[in-house]
Parts: sequence; C-alpha cells; structure tokens
Amino acid sequence: MTTITGIAALRARLDTERAAGRTVGFVPTMGYLHAGHASLMTRARAETDVVIVSIFVNPLQFAAGEDLAAYPHDLAADTAMAQAEGVDVLFVPTEAEMYPDGVVHTSVRVMQVSAGLEASTRPTHFDGVATVVAKLFAIVGTCRAYFGEKDFQQIAVVRRMVRDLSVPVEVVACPTQRDPDGLALSSRNSYLLDAERAVAPVLHAALLAGRMAIDAGEVNPAKVRALMADLISAEPLAHLDYAEVVDAATLQTVDPLAGELRLLAAARFGRARLIDNIGAEV
Ligand code: PAJ
Repeated sequence: MTTITGIAALRARLDTERAAGRTVGFVPTMGYLHAGHASLMTRARAETDVVIVSIFVNPLQFAAGEDLAAYPHDLAADTAMAQAEGVDVLFVPTEAEMYPDGVVHTSVRVMQVSAGLEASTRPTHFDGVATVVAKLFAIVGTCRAYFGEKDFQQIAVVRRMVRDLSVPVEVVACPTQRDPDGLALSSRNSYLLDAERAVAPVLHAALLAGRMAIDAGEVNPAKVRALMADLISAEPLAHLDYAEVVDAATLQTVDPLAGELRLLAAARFGRARLIDNIGAEV
C-alpha cells in the first residue's frame, strides 16, 4: 500500500492504472476507521482492481460549534486497517493541499434531498459534503465510489450531484454495519460515556419498532413518527433531534405511507450526536 498526500501524485497514479485498463474503487472517509469503513473497502476490493481510500476531515461540512476540532483520529491504526483490507492507495491530503488559499469560493448545493432530516439541525452540512465529494471525485476521476447506508441522506445527495453534473462516478451503497446490540458503528461512538453507550441502541430499536408498526399495517406517518420519537424520548440520556419516515428515493414525506420507505432518526447522547436508518416497504 502506498500513502499519497499530493493531488497531482494521486492523479498521476490513477491515470496510469486506468490507462493500463484497471478499474478504480474509491472509499472516501474522514478516518478513525472501523468495521463499517472496512466493509466498504472489502466490497471495493472485490469489485475493482485498484482500491483507494481517502482520509480527510473536511472542515466545510462542520458548522461552528460542531466537533471539527475534537473529531477523533488515529492515522497509524487507519493505515493498518487499510493495509489489512488490501487497499492499494491511501490518500491523506493536508488541509493546505485541499484548500491552498485557506478559503473556498465555490460551493456545490444539491436541492431537495439536502433539505430536512439532517439539514434541520445542520443546515449547511450537505453543502460541505457535496463540495468536498465533488472535489474528491474530480481528483480521483472515473471510478466506482462506495458509501455506507448509515448516512442515507448523504448517499441521496451524492447520487443527485453525480447525476446532475454528469460526474463519471458510479455510486455504490453498502449496508450499515452494527454492533451486536444494534448500535450502528460510527467514529463518533468513541465520544459515548459507558452509560450513554449502554442506552444508545434505543435509536435502532425505535426504528425497528417503527418498521414493525408499518409491517402490521400502519400507514399514518405521524403515528409511526410519534411511536419512534416516544421510544427515544423515554430514554433520559437521549435527546431526540428527529424521527422520520419518508419515501426512500425522494426523502419526502408520503401520506399515507406507500412503496419503498426509509425510517431515519437522530439523537444526542452526551457529546455524541448519532444517526441511524432502516428500510421498510408497504
Ligand atoms: P465518514 O463518516 O468517515 O464515513 C465514510 C463512509 O463510511 C461513509 O460512506 C459512511 O456512510 C460509511 N460508514 C460509516 N459508518 C458506517 C457503518 N456503520 N456501516 C457502513 N458504512 C459506514 O461520511 C463521511 O465520512 C464524509 O461525509 C465523507 C463522505 C468522507 C465526505 O467528507
């Protein structure tokens, strides 16, 4: 595995690989890698010839007061995990390499799917995500890019950006990896105190309860929302941001519930703001 820090060097390497007929698989991350990230690498390794993982904690997607400065990092452990997953290239640009002027005047904004849900408490978050992912795609070039369903709205934003801007990238969505008690793996789980970790699976449990209600015939979205919100709010250490059920493709409210649906929830547990989602169908 080669670690590359420069944009020009990465482009040269990947252009050479593609010129030799090899396909590129790309896994963008912010590091502090866990088994969720590893599952994306495994999939990329199985489906493409040259696997590249990027690690860049993107300041554009953090608002003032969020956890940018505290975001966990461990490059040695990340390097070992990427190596063990058979990754070919680890791209670890500095902030100066990505944003040499220290200021960015270009922003990529995806309408509709960027609104609501995460944006209700993080209104500028997806502009930052879409901008950095567009930039990473411009650097990496033609590839298959692997994203986790854990960040379901993020995938919708990236897919729409790729489609609208004719970016030569195929977006692949991969299932959420969880601890045995249901908690979705996340770099931010490292913020949880023991008591918070013990109750954090309530997020997943509430989503499962919402799906059970739908499976039992409930088609009123307000009832499903209230059921999930009540379960999360009943936990004193959980502070609910939202519990929603939306159309899986448009992320818009659908009433009565019909077709492919997605149940999504976000809550704060101490310093950690956690999100999760699952699918359902009527
Ligand atoms: P990060 O949170 O590091 O996540 C990188 C990728 O890993 C994302 O596609 C995310 O959905 C996926 N992932 C995280 N937890 C997962 C889990 N438990 N199971 C499966 N996949 C999981 O998402 C970002 O970074 C950034 O927004 C980024 C796309 C890199 C842009 O800065």
